[in-house]
Amino acid sequence: MRVTAYAYKLERGATVLRSEVLLLLWQENLTFDGSSGSFDFLELFSGKGEVTKLWRDHGFRCCSVDLDYADCMDFEKHSTFALCLWAILNEVPDAFNVLAPVCGSWSTVSRGSTLRNYVNPMGHQPYNSVAFGNRMTSKCVLLILVMLACNCIFALEQPSQSLMPRHKRLEWLLNRVAYVYEVHFWAMHYGKECPKRTMMLSNLRTISTLDRGVLSNAEKVAKHKVETTRIAVHTSIYNHLVLDPVAPVPRSYTRAFGERLLELYQHGRTETRYDLRTRPKIPKGKSDKELFEELQLGDIWYESKCHETFLYLFESKHLRTEWNALLG
Ligand SMILES: C[S@@+](CC[C@H](N)C(=O)[O-])C[C@H]1O[C@@H](n2cnc3c(N)ncnc32)[C@H](O)[C@@H]1O
Repeated sequence: MRVTAYAYKLERGATVLRSEVLLLLWQENLTFDGSSGSFDFLELFSGKGEVTKLWRDHGFRCCSVDLDYADCMDFEKHSTFALCLWAILNEVPDAFNVLAPVCGSWSTVSRGSTLRNYVNPMGHQPYNSVAFGNRMTSKCVLLILVMLACNCIFALEQPSQSLMPRHKRLEWLLNRVAYVYEVHFWAMHYGKECPKRTMMLSNLRTISTLDRGVLSNAEKVAKHKVETTRIAVHTSIYNHLVLDPVAPVPRSYTRAFGERLLELYQHGRTETRYDLRTRPKIPKGKSDKELFEELQLGDIWYESKCHETFLYLFESKHLRTEWNALLG
């Protein structure tokens, strides 16, 4: 089966993910043969979903996931992680995946409370917001591994100064697993109401041309439509910088940005994408049962709580009974 081969192609370090993929394949209420539809595009943490809407308008089969849509789309839930895995395993080769994970705990402004910095990018892990940021990033890396195994394209977006690429799992992915292009650009060049210097990491070569160059001060002033902060200078001993609660930074992508992504995708999707490692060879003629039996536990990516999704799938009432002896 095609997807079983994908499961085997997964990075050696993430065997828990491999077994999760196999468990997912063995759920009798799920299909992986395109009969419930195949996807060309997945937007994870899609928010307003402008990019998804645009791609759908162009006839692509899309799927988007965000907590804004429903509680059951909380990325913290095992079912949501399983849903993302299912969606990716149902993608056509060269499908495009945009991930815009929550940047709160990775951005420059939160460094005082997360205690993240260049030498300690994982921050102060007992803090909930830091643990959430680390867990979410680990899980995104696991999903990207599945995307790569399925020969798909990913693009991960963050604010330009985000420390996320220094997360140990993402750094490993970028340095050891996939050949990835990094681009920094001004979102204002794509119609955003604030400048927002943005970073994108992708295995699609043409992504490098997202950068439309310098944003001049005059252009910044002319196009800037949101005020995010105001300074109140007190006559007392202290000066205060007061955050304005009525003007949050608009975090959504613009349609123009979606259009540009589509254009770059169409130019680059058939180009060769490179790996930085040698993928393990798929032993020919072995059944997925035999592959499962051979898996070593290895590194379980504890911080991602991926093993909990494994248990969630393992305990599912839809798991095919013929595997019971093997799993018991
Ligand atoms: C950086 S914004 C992405 C915005 C999006 N690119 C857009 O164009 O609207 C991060 C998104 O993550 C979503 N989010 C936050 N926590 C989440 C969670 N636990 N599970 C799923 N989505 C979550 C938010 O609702 C928000 O839309």
